[in-house]
Amino acid sequence: MSMFRQVRGQLHAEQVPVEKIARKVGTPFYLYSQTAIVNQLTALQSAFAPIRPLICYSVKANGNLAILKTLVRRGAGLDIVSGGELFRARRAGCPPQRIVFAGVGKSPEEIRSALKARIFCFNVESIPELEAIEREAERLKQRAPVALRVNPNIKADTHHYITTGTAENKFGIPLADAEKLILSGSWGQFHRIDLKGFHLHIGSQITQTAPFVAAVERIAPMIERLRGRGVLIDWLNLGGGLGITYQSEAPLNPRILAGKLIPVLKRLNVRLIFEPGRFLLGNAGILVTRILYVKETRTKRFAIVDAGMNDLIRPALYGAHHGIVPVRPALPAGQAGKSGAGARKLRYDVVGPVCESGDFFAKDRRLPKLAAGDLLAVLSVGAYGFTMASHYNARPNPPEVLVKGKRMAVIRKRERPADLIRGEQIPRL
Ligand code: LLP
Repeated sequence: MSMFRQVRGQLHAEQVPVEKIARKVGTPFYLYSQTAIVNQLTALQSAFAPIRPLICYSVKANGNLAILKTLVRRGAGLDIVSGGELFRARRAGCPPQRIVFAGVGKSPEEIRSALKARIFCFNVESIPELEAIEREAERLKQRAPVALRVNPNIKADTHHYITTGTAENKFGIPLADAEKLILSGSWGQFHRIDLKGFHLHIGSQITQTAPFVAAVERIAPMIERLRGRGVLIDWLNLGGGLGITYQSEAPLNPRILAGKLIPVLKRLNVRLIFEPGRFLLGNAGILVTRILYVKETRTKRFAIVDAGMNDLIRPALYGAHHGIVPVRPALPAGQAGKSGAGARKLRYDVVGPVCESGDFFAKDRRLPKLAAGDLLAVLSVGAYGFTMASHYNARPNPPEVLVKGKRMAVIRKRERPADLIRGEQIPRL
């Protein structure tokens, strides 16, 4: 059940009217439901409970400290991809033994700080990276736990920018090469490396269970062959990618996925890691924006809002669909207090103030008649919303607000113009 619902003609986040928050913090702003986030985590944890998985939330989806803390407090670990995310993870109090570190371009400094922090493991994407980790571990006289990220060459049916498990992608080591490496003489040169397991991530926004099952089936024979040669694999990290509803997709159902994966994983005798980002946060956040102007031309009707592509880039970058609802639907005369659902709909392009034609949230979207001053909510933006925001057009980042039941808290303040120039210097050359 969505935690964003119309109650008596007003959009609520849990039990708080969205309009009330807008009056307090101004617009635009990101708004998250803590209950929605926790419900998703619980659904995943309980579906896989029989095999005690480690759920490492993918920080890149939404790295706000309050969000990280919400998840970490409930047993989640974190999936990080940079020194910056390691810093966030530690600030949020995540036990290092629940941190996994992925990414194709880890720098020596990042490797060192992760080793010093004693994270659970590095998800290693190439042999040169493995050599770099060995070097840094040798310098620190430490063990380096790793999972090899393998590329299972599985094509998940999703946007081509976010498929990652096919042979043309830059990610991971081809399956056959990983096995050869581990069994070869040169594996012995990695004195400091502890092989914990394998990692894979086949893509993002996958709503079918089949690609996950196919990936495990592709890697299972290798795990068994290695066991036969005395190489024990304890962990299998299946990455993230669990899909949600943006439009009308049936979201990935964790119980069905668990029903298919648990028997195979038990047979393989491996512990499971997942790295969900979108699944935990996507539907738990909205972007609230105010209409500045309604502009009608001979061919189009534009609702020009005060949020832009710098706040939410998914429509511009991926052509992503996000639902849009009025915070308070215009009610037909005499219907105050009843739903405005019956009101006649018109087609709008919902666009931002940024100087680019790509700055839109929706095109030709049917919405009730809109007017300047109305609030709109852009839905399903809890993941890859704020984290991909920029300062383009010198627009300060919006605040983030977290709601739980009747209570709300600002978890990031609105930036001021001074924040835009922090760190800049005018030289005397
Ligand atoms: N693990 C790895 C290794 C990943 O590369 C990713 C996402 C995840 C986990 C989390 O994936 P999720 O569960 O959230 O699908 N900006 C794009 C998504 C890029 C995802 C990159 N990797 C978007 O807005 O759709």
